[in-house]
Amino acid sequence: MKYMMFFKKKEMEVPSNQLPQHIGFIMDGNGRWAKQRHLPRSAGHRAGANTLKSITRICGELGIPYITFYAFSTDNWSRPKEEVDDLMKLLYDYLCNADETIGGERVRIRVSGDMTRLDQKFQDMIADLVERTKARDGITATIALNYGGKDEIVHAVRKVAQRVKQGILEPEKITEEIIAQNLYNPDIPDPDLIIRTSGEMRISNFLLWESAYAELYFSKVYWPDFDKKELMRALEDYSHRQRRFGGV
Ligand code: IPE
Ligand code: IPE
Ligand code: MG
Repeated sequence: MKYMMFFKKKEMEVPSNQLPQHIGFIMDGNGRWAKQRHLPRSAGHRAGANTLKSITRICGELGIPYITFYAFSTDNWSRPKEEVDDLMKLLYDYLCNADETIGGERVRIRVSGDMTRLDQKFQDMIADLVERTKARDGITATIALNYGGKDEIVHAVRKVAQRVKQGILEPEKITEEIIAQNLYNPDIPDPDLIIRTSGEMRISNFLLWESAYAELYFSKVYWPDFDKKELMRALEDYSHRQRRFGGV
């Protein structure tokens, strides 16, 4: 037994000044996780929702100020109606009880995406949730819901075009800053690290503009199995990255 303890690996630690300030999670693999267990896809989504809670708690404890979870993409509407309905119901119930499901009374909840495609009841509940949690002092957890990176840019461009049309803004005066200010959450810093689970190595329309210089990390585990050990592995990896932002 003593022997075992000797070889037990120390829990990974990353100095706090080497932690990302904002992590984006592409929570992928719920369906395959369920399939592996001969369960319906809906069971995978429910298991994935639990991971969101534990990861929020761990990131909060680590002192990471911002996290964003990709919960439903603008392209996910193309899934079978049954799955879309199930996901919407899950997300609704989940967000209704956010203090319990996402965890803690300190978590500030934000959303990103085109909420106008959701039911009015859903939209009202979200507006209330964001308002109710906005003065909290814990981690800011953003739920990307009916979110698409291209769609977000289209919305920003429309707002900017409106000002051009009104004659307040010259087209030549449109800058990157102006576009950025018109994205869904201009006050939230760009993600430093994007983690995608399930072994897929793509961005799938997530935070296209904001992730221009994000570090990418791909984990092989399915989202419901993503745990503290996997997160620490990603953070450890990130702490050794050298970010250059185009410089030398
Ligand atoms: C991610 O899991 C959750 C959503 C996209 C809503 P998937 O449902 O994409 O799971 P896989 O990729 O089919 O395993
Ligand atoms: C990305 O996963 C979207 C979310 C995690 C919400 P998908 O499973 O929809 O992405 P693709 O289809 O594999 O690219
Ligand atoms: Mg998937």
